[in-house]
Amino acid sequence: MNNLNRREMMAIAGACGVTAMFGASARPALAAATLPELGYAFNALEPYIDAKTMEIHHGKHHQAYINNLNNALADFPQLEAMPLEKLLADLDGLPESIRTAVRNNGGGHLNHSLFWRMMKPGGGGARGAIGQAIDSTFDSFENFQTAFTTTALGQFGSGWAWLVASGDKLEVVGTPNQDTPVSAGKTPLLGIDVWEHAYYLKYQNLRGDYVKAWWNVVNWDFVNQLFANAKG
Ligand SMILES: [Fe+2]
Repeated sequence: MNNLNRREMMAIAGACGVTAMFGASARPALAAATLPELGYAFNALEPYIDAKTMEIHHGKHHQAYINNLNNALADFPQLEAMPLEKLLADLDGLPESIRTAVRNNGGGHLNHSLFWRMMKPGGGGARGAIGQAIDSTFDSFENFQTAFTTTALGQFGSGWAWLVASGDKLEVVGTPNQDTPVSAGKTPLLGIDVWEHAYYLKYQNLRGDYVKAWWNVVNWDFVNQLFANAKG
């Protein structure tokens, strides 16, 4: 299972309820969302992403999404017991009173839970099966990188750029705010957070420099795990 053993997969699934994305691991019913461990030290992604940004991003921003999600679901235990990606896949099915809160904060929780695992110290390197699929979809990795970067830089205000599986195809898409591709029926495989909170301390207004540096920390093992699950 590449760098992720089953225990780790269960830990992620239990923490954020992304059971469908992570395969067959079952999530215990009814649990308030909790902050998943980062899995590496705050300074482990230096010099590309600085320790203070990681500390605040993980401990403050992500935690705030979790707190707000739990508050929104507090009066709806039947929804809280459901895998988060199922709630996000059918936002129209949610009570109107909590729809926006779940969209923003549930999306924030799901997106960040994935984002931490999509990076690792000493990232980059061999891309395996997803690399071959990228080459065949975009003609070359450089073309894919250009499309992904253009989407990341073109996202007005806050949001994300993604490589997603859409049916049996790969696509690059952007989402505003904390919207997740899951809400559009797509499976996220790789994503970059382009909210200013993800890069401003080190890069200030230079989002392009952040995106360029970020490729050095991409965890292709995890991307391949998501890709395998999406195909499975
Ligand atoms: Fe973020």
